[in-house]
Amino acid sequence: MTTKKTENGFTIKYNELNAKEFIFLWESVWGEPPSLEQTELAMKNTLFKVSIFDGEKIVAMARAIGDKGLCYYIKDVVVHPGYQGRGLGRILIGEILEYINANGAEGTEIAVELCAMPDKIPFYEKFGFAANEAQRLRIMHKVKVE
Ligand SMILES: CC(C)(COP(=O)(O)OP(=O)(O)OC[C@H]1O[C@@H](n2cnc3c(N)ncnc32)[C@H](O)[C@@H]1OP(=O)(O)O)[C@@H](O)C(=O)NCCC(=O)NCCS
Repeated sequence: MTTKKTENGFTIKYNELNAKEFIFLWESVWGEPPSLEQTELAMKNTLFKVSIFDGEKIVAMARAIGDKGLCYYIKDVVVHPGYQGRGLGRILIGEILEYINANGAEGTEIAVELCAMPDKIPFYEKFGFAANEAQRLRIMHKVKVE
């Protein structure tokens, strides 16, 4: 297990985030979570996951899906409400950018994208993210029942 300590005593874990932890943090900020089955599949297939612990308690998470060469998508950046405003969100984004840096082709540029609600845009702008004219298109595709 790879871990690291922050200056203020939190523990950062890499690629350890499991479905139950994910659901716990999801519910703390967004309410009704996705199913355990869907979440387990997602955790298994996520390229890079970072989580932060206060002792035994998970307090923050983020994950990145991507191909290492050309593009990444940052998903599910969550700091538990009791721990917001203490620099953990900054650590999460920093860890993802470090992972991207460590795994990309030297000297190249990689597109790192995410989707943010308007009130969270200033948070991401602190790391250089900026909106462009492209719009987000989405369907919620229903997986067929055989
Ligand atoms: C958005 C979120 C991840 C930020 O995490 P956090 O731990 O509170 O953020 P930090 O304490 O690391 O803040 C880092 C910097 O961003 C700023 N910041 C944080 N949230 C902000 C916001 N909503 N608007 C403007 N600035 C913000 C902080 O003031 C700080 O600035 P500084 O370093 O210049 O002093 C957290 O509020 C959260 O989990 N929210 C609920 C889930 C969510 O909406 N996630 C985003 C999905 S798009």
